Amino acid sequence: MNIILYTPKSDNKEWIDGISKRLPNAKIRAWHPEDKEHADYALVWRPPHDMLASRTSLKGIFVLGAGVDALLSQEQQQPGTLPAGVPLMRLEDTGMALQMQEYTLATVLRYFRRLDEYQLLQQQKQWKPLVAHQRENFTIGILGAGVLGTQVAQKLVELGFNVRGWSRSAKNIPDVESFHGAEQLHKFASGCKLLINLLPNTPQTVGILNQTLFNALPRHAYLINLGRGMQLVEGDLLNALQHGQIAAATLDVFIEEPLPSMHPFWSHPRVSITPHIGADTRPELAMDNIVANIQAIEAGREPVGLVDRARGY
Ligand code: NAP
Ligand code: GLV
Repeated sequence: MNIILYTPKSDNKEWIDGISKRLPNAKIRAWHPEDKEHADYALVWRPPHDMLASRTSLKGIFVLGAGVDALLSQEQQQPGTLPAGVPLMRLEDTGMALQMQEYTLATVLRYFRRLDEYQLLQQQKQWKPLVAHQRENFTIGILGAGVLGTQVAQKLVELGFNVRGWSRSAKNIPDVESFHGAEQLHKFASGCKLLINLLPNTPQTVGILNQTLFNALPRHAYLINLGRGMQLVEGDLLNALQHGQIAAATLDVFIEEPLPSMHPFWSHPRVSITPHIGADTRPELAMDNIVANIQAIEAGREPVGLVDRARGY
């Protein structure tokens, strides 16, 4: 079995050693632009156009992350980038859900206990107790009740928060109020003091974090964007912050990454920025998952994490 690998990093030794250890009979090689040799499987993160184009004999393409938007939009811009009919798989959880739980818990509690505001007051040497938020007025809404959104919701429920989820299809997650479809979006948002975005980036979700949605939230709501930068209309957020519709935002993903140094988010007192670290790929767990999937395909079983290309996630 031959496997090709590409990530933008110059050193992929960890992946090559890890797959070789797990599949001793497989030959895995780092792909380079002159490499036209046969391959059965491809492991990729942001591959160049040439890597997969015309490789119709691949038995599977594994994306080394949760989101497949970069690959699918490359295919849309340059049709033929992704060979038609080859199964495309993404990582489901493999250590990312725990990281998302940590990130959202830290941020939710920071806002719920108004620690962000106390930090600003400290800078002004002001001793000023603020009115505490009450849980009954602090419902948390999660856009995207999928692999990551569900586990974030469960963690927040454990902590005693009222939690809502919004997805394409109705869900039955214990103690989480489920909303689904475009027609229920504003009803969902109307009760959410804090909104967490964990939607995949698709033509339907681009720009979904916009003025209309912000206006549907209760006044002085909070936003956490962990999905993709393209889902946020940046000017609308700045406007909503200026008018107090949004009290504060924590952003992990941006239209342009790294965030340009002149961007107004950097110096906005009510915006907190992290450099797309919400949940990193954990190679050891990812490789266990990919190898189990290769074994499933070889045995004629269905792999996990299959992407529906038409749906976009
Ligand atoms: P997932 O399991 O595919 O979940 C996606 C959820 O979004 C599903 O509940 C889906 O609804 C819902 N959804 C999709 N399109 C929708 C639409 N048009 N309207 C309403 N709901 C819609 O994905 P995941 O593994 O949880 O990952 C989610 C995203 O997180 C990734 O795509 C990626 O962009 C982002 N992410 C970011 C980081 C980071 O470091 N910041 C790390 C990992 C992932 P259904 O359940 O009904 O299909
Ligand atoms: C990271 O953003 C991922 O999609 O895995």
